[in-house]
Amino acid sequence: MTDNFKYGEETSVENTGEKRANFSGGLGYILAVAGSAVGLGNIWRFPYLAAKYGGGMFLLTYLILTLTFGYAMIMSETTIGRMTKRSAIGAFNYFGNSKILKVGGFINAIVPVLIVPYYSVIGGWVVKYLVEYIKGNVDGLAADGYFGSFIGDTKVVFFWFVIFALATFVVILGGVEQGIERVSKIMMPLLIILAIVVALYSVTRPGAMAGVKYFFVPNFHNFSLMTVVAALGQMFYSLSIAMGILYTYGSYLTKDVDVEISTSRVEMVDTGVAVLAGLMVIPAVFAFSGGDPDKLKAGPSLMFITLPKVFESMGAGRIAGIGFFLLVLLAALTSAISLVETSISTFCDELNLSRNKSVILMAVIMVFVGGSSAAGYGIWDFVLIFKMPILDFLDFLTNSIMMPIAALATCYLVVRVITLEKIDDEISYSSAFKRKKLYNIVMRVFAPIFLIVILVSAILNTLGFISL
Ligand code: PFF
Repeated sequence: MTDNFKYGEETSVENTGEKRANFSGGLGYILAVAGSAVGLGNIWRFPYLAAKYGGGMFLLTYLILTLTFGYAMIMSETTIGRMTKRSAIGAFNYFGNSKILKVGGFINAIVPVLIVPYYSVIGGWVVKYLVEYIKGNVDGLAADGYFGSFIGDTKVVFFWFVIFALATFVVILGGVEQGIERVSKIMMPLLIILAIVVALYSVTRPGAMAGVKYFFVPNFHNFSLMTVVAALGQMFYSLSIAMGILYTYGSYLTKDVDVEISTSRVEMVDTGVAVLAGLMVIPAVFAFSGGDPDKLKAGPSLMFITLPKVFESMGAGRIAGIGFFLLVLLAALTSAISLVETSISTFCDELNLSRNKSVILMAVIMVFVGGSSAAGYGIWDFVLIFKMPILDFLDFLTNSIMMPIAALATCYLVVRVITLEKIDDEISYSSAFKRKKLYNIVMRVFAPIFLIVILVSAILNTLGFISL
């Protein structure tokens, strides 16, 4: 099939007869992909994982993985998207119709459909916190038990989830260039400025320097297999890899955009915001707790429980809270947009639906799956899957099981089906492929090994054979 493909050909969405949307150029594309990558993963998840799994050691491991493995995965997905002009399922089927390719395409495509509903529930929590800070409820948010009783109130959580989801759909209805690209061009610079301001504020609090040191200086005693497993999982989450997004965005890419440079810039922005988020959260919590490491190990609740207490103790808690949660909201919105866009693009391409019908289908899925996730902490708290509430289970299923399989499928597609030479041809079409050697060895050797390690360790952990 690859031989039929001509570089630079005009593209159309075959099934619907509509012309395929394109990004207007390199910058719009970089901002849109960075908007997808920079999300709750960077600001909510990265700091608590870094705090829990060894500070500087986690950061170092994460950076190495991102520059090797992450780089190769982004390059692969974007390039195949641009080569085939199709979203994940179409892209896999473009090269044949074996079972492996069918499953590979399907699993890449289904991940965002499962992620975005529960992601939007967390987005709703963020909107609620922002509104409370705007109202000046600094003490209320910091009170013991606030978060627990809030997420237990299904009606309230559902309401904020719907507000967040509606905001996402408004942008999606604007389309790729007018909607996604325009919003990213405004939101991303704003987000970066806000991130720098909040991080500067945090590191200049008295006692914060010890936290900065913990976060930046690697201590080799803190290294364990879990550091690698956690960093690898975070890398997938944060870079939006193995969930079809980059296939779809790559398919909107014109042939003149340098894929390698775009990839490096996206990685820089994504990692930069994660580091800034670490600087916002870790030193502030350090200063607040007098360096008590247990406070740092709060896990997912670090942002919703510990941080409001930190803000309350700071004096300028209201402003800090508004700045911080506005930042998180912008990040979460641009990511949710990319997840919904990818799902819609798949429905258009594979189910023969028009864009509008695909939007409606996605909205229905959002209400059911998102509503169940919201209820899982409240009226449906008796529903536990492998001992996890619905939201946690969806997160585990997608991130720890489906995404490694999706990424393995991409490795298989690149190495065994398309071949590294043809990928090289496609990348070299717009620019020299400078890190080709690194790319080839990661795709052939390191990626499959790492992926199997995280997949197996996640399964053994869930079944209770090991404890990570
Ligand atoms: N990469 C984005 C983030 O870090 O929040 C969006 C995202 C995509 C999050 C996929 C989670 C996920 F599983």
